[in-house]
Order: sequence, then C-alpha cells, then structure tokens
Amino acid sequence: MTYKVILPAAGSGKRMGAGKNKLLLELEGVPILIHTLKVFADDEDCETIILAVNPQDEKEFTDLINKHHIEKSVSMVPGGSERQHSIYNALKTIKTDGIILVHDAARPFIKKEHILRLTGVTEEAGAAIIGVPAKDTMKKVMGGTVTETVERSSLWAVHTPQAFRISLLHEAYEKAEIDSFLGTDDASLVERLGHPVAMVEGDYDNIKITTPEDLFFAEAILKKRNI
Ligand code: C5P
Repeated sequence: MTYKVILPAAGSGKRMGAGKNKLLLELEGVPILIHTLKVFADDEDCETIILAVNPQDEKEFTDLINKHHIEKSVSMVPGGSERQHSIYNALKTIKTDGIILVHDAARPFIKKEHILRLTGVTEEAGAAIIGVPAKDTMKKVMGGTVTETVERSSLWAVHTPQAFRISLLHEAYEKAEIDSFLGTDDASLVERLGHPVAMVEGDYDNIKITTPEDLFFAEAILKKRNI
C-alpha cells in the first residue's frame, strides 16, 4: 500500500537545550533528521516526503539531504508555532486522496514492518496509530497529591507514525481549526469527528528524542541494531 508522509521537523528543541534544532544532532555521526528520512527514502511504498521546517534550517537541511544522497522527492513547507500548525501547513499542500502518515522527525527508529501494519490497517479502518502498552503503574496527580490510580490494562503510550485516509485528516484539521482545538497528536483531531482510530502495537525502541538523556538511549538502540 503506497503512502505519503509528513515529517514535522520544525520544533525549537527547547527541552533538548542544544542551542540548535535537535534533529541536527548526530547519532553515530549521522544527523537524527537523516536517520529518519532514510527510513522513508528507502521504503518503496513511500511516494513522497513533506518536511515542515523552520525557515532558518532550510538551507542546512537541504545540504544534508544532498550530502546523504536522499533520492526520494522531499518538499519543504514552513513550520508553524505548534506541531499541529506545522503539520497543517504540510497537509494543505496535498490535493489527492490516499494514505498519509504523520511521523515525528525526532523518532528515527521506526521499522518498516510497523509502517506496513499501519498502512494495511488504515486501508480498512481509515485511521490507525502505533503505540505500546503502558509498563508503569499510572496515577493521576493534582497539586502534588495522587487523586487516582488508573487501571493500567487499558492504557497505551502513543507514538508516531499515525496513519490516515487523507480526506479524513483534512476534515479533522478543518474542524480543529474552526474550534481552535490544539491536540498533542493527530489522532485526537480525528477522534473529535467521532471516527474510530485503530491501535497497532509497535515497540518500545521507537522513542522520540526529546531530552539529553534520550541521546544515550538512542545510541544504545543503534548499537543493539548493529550487532
Ligand atoms: O517537541 P517534540 O519533540 O515533541 O516535537 C515532535 C516533532 O514535531 C519534532 O520532530 C519537531 O521537530 C516537530 N515540531 C514541529 N513544529 C513545531 C513543534 C514541533 O514541526 N512547532
């Protein structure tokens, strides 16, 4: 099943504190951005990649894409102030229907087998996301005090990619804009339409590189893969 992918890459990287876009930080000598791009560039089912970028990163990103011989079509759109705005800028450039994946450029470890499962389920279901069952005990906390222990068996940590029928994602983003709704993921916008979202079990390696300690985990994941 072929698909297009939007990679939001226009974050400020405040939580990483690197003083530059965290996607430019390197893992085994290769920028995080390139690790992620390669997954999709090497996937014959991926038709095109749309990157949402900060205008100040555009030249460096372009140079890296050329240097690392990313041969798939990569178009760039300006990022927005929030992740959701960055993705909407990219989505607006897509005029055809089909399947769209939205994947954080900061998650370089997504595997082809999971992309295949997601697109397969999305063909039937219209919307599918990837995640993992919660491992820890989960509690609700208000003002430093536990108010509830939440039943863990139904809780999942949600990753990307999230996959959608393109027309459905357009509808979800249009409604979110009208309602000024800001979600922390794309599926939450689709859920607001009352449309079911299927969950596909991924793996715990598919981390989002967010804070400095994640770089150590990321190096360890890469080492494990190279064994
Ligand atoms: O900040 P965080 O890592 O949660 O962001 C997830 C992804 O969304 C990152 O790849 C980041 O570059 C991107 N992003 C974006 N535009 C924003 C904020 C984040 O494209 N305004």
